[in-house]
Amino acid sequence: MSDDTRHPSEVARRALMAGAGVLAASVALIACGGAASRSGALLPPAGTPAGPPAGPPGEPAGAAGGRLASTSDIPIGGGTVIAGKKVVVTQPVPGTFAAFSAICTHQGCPVNKVANGTIDCPCHGSKFAVADGSVVQGPASRPLARRQITVSGDAIVLE
Ligand code: FES
Repeated sequence: MSDDTRHPSEVARRALMAGAGVLAASVALIACGGAASRSGALLPPAGTPAGPPAGPPGEPAGAAGGRLASTSDIPIGGGTVIAGKKVVVTQPVPGTFAAFSAICTHQGCPVNKVANGTIDCPCHGSKFAVADGSVVQGPASRPLARRQITVSGDAIVLE
């Protein structure tokens, strides 16, 4: 039997298999040093922004750290972890705000909770004071790094 007598679906299947082989070869080429990427033939990975990231509405593009939260978002005596910015904003007393790095000084886990006056790390249990980021409970031995913020109206902005 010659190829001309094959069922059309068999021809399509074989053509598909040949295409898959070419694709596999392309993937292997990329894996072996990215030569294909120099051709410019590849699309950017899914989710890659097409241009510079846009800030929140009303925020000028390229503003230093950008708006973190509204003052009303931050509980008095507590705080809020803003994971996307790796910052914790606290309000130890009404109308006074502070901000710290959300990266634990013990081994670098992101803190994930603010409760009972402390900023808590889930990895090994370190706790830091909402007022100044100092260590309340180890194993961390250094305070959370302070981040500079400004409060403008109801907006808390990272500098
Ligand atoms: Fe936070 Fe260990 S990394 S307690």
